[in-house]
Amino acid sequence: MGRSLLLWSLLALSACATTSGATTEDAKPADDKKVAAAETKGDAKAEAPKKLFERLGGKPAVEAVIDDFLGRVAGDESINSGFAVGHVPRLRQRLVELVCAATGGPCTYSGRDMQTAHAGMKITNAQFDSLVGHLVATLDKFKVPSQEKGELLGLLGPMRGSIVEE
Ligand code: HEM
Repeated sequence: MGRSLLLWSLLALSACATTSGATTEDAKPADDKKVAAAETKGDAKAEAPKKLFERLGGKPAVEAVIDDFLGRVAGDESINSGFAVGHVPRLRQRLVELVCAATGGPCTYSGRDMQTAHAGMKITNAQFDSLVGHLVATLDKFKVPSQEKGELLGLLGPMRGSIVEE
């Protein structure tokens, strides 16, 4: 359908991703460095443990993760049909805010709560699982260590009950 093509293109553009569907391995090689940088910085001082936000690499890393993730979502017809064309930049911004705030970063989430935002979309567990799968693929691409990956997924997992309606 023309509409879904348009949606797809816009999502892909917004995400600065390649247009090769779910495969975005070569999309933004520089981003690997942004995300991986968090691993190599190390703790100069043995102070309080760093927040997940910092361990992920801060705002540039979170933005790179969301962009790659949205590129994958855009290429997945089982979940992309509900996204409104004009809302993708706003969605991107809110996802960045959400992840930034949830991981202890200096951001305020300005969107609706998860239940309100997804009410009536009839999102299924399978769709939720697909979305998590895309996020895992993104985190693996950026070589996010399993500790940080687990912590991030652990923050998002409990949202399932507010998002899925089946
Ligand atoms: C952990 C899982 C998820 C998180 C963290 C999440 C997060 C968000 C956020 C932050 C927004 C923006 C809310 C606002 O604008 O006030 C949003 C909107 C939306 N989400 Fe989700 N979401 C999740 C799962 C899903 C799934 C599984 C689907 C569909 C299969 C989905 C479809 C949508 C749609 C269609 C919108 C509205 C986009 C628009 O306004 O154009 N979400 N989501």
